[in-house]
Amino acid sequence: MEQTFIMIKPDGVQRGLVGEIISRFEKKGFYLKGMKFINVERPFAEQHYADLSAKPFFSGLVDYIISGPVVAMIWEGKNVVVTGRKIIGATNPADSAPGTIRGDFAVEIGRNIIHGSDAVESARKEIALWFPEGPVNWQSSVN
Ligand code: CMP
Repeated sequence: MEQTFIMIKPDGVQRGLVGEIISRFEKKGFYLKGMKFINVERPFAEQHYADLSAKPFFSGLVDYIISGPVVAMIWEGKNVVVTGRKIIGATNPADSAPGTIRGDFAVEIGRNIIHGSDAVESARKEIALWFPEGPVNWQSSVN
């Protein structure tokens, strides 16, 4: 079954939108297969956004992603990559339709709340980068 990588960015966490975002994906009918709450360091953020390293906004984008904890998730379901991007809305909140996450909650392209993989192949790469240990961490003891 198809999977995608979704990340709630630091502004989405700080603004208390984690529950709202998860709820939208759950209500659509997608399955949450992996989730973690983490601070990423600069080299990791640079690796995630390596394709954008030549862009003038690259260092600001990396500063933003490392500015606070993010929620990294794996979501699964039929056409979840393309449909997930529709739920999220256009990259620039100025262009994202009302009813989408960015359309409802964001105004700035540099603070656009959420990331979603843009293709099945990038989803595969991003899931491998963010979840090298697999989708679920096991804890064998309470001590
Ligand atoms: P995301 O879906 O995570 O993919 C790349 C990110 O780069 C995008 O969301 C935005 O956060 C950021 N981005 C794209 N274009 C610009 C821009 N012109 N200025 C600032 N950030 C941008």
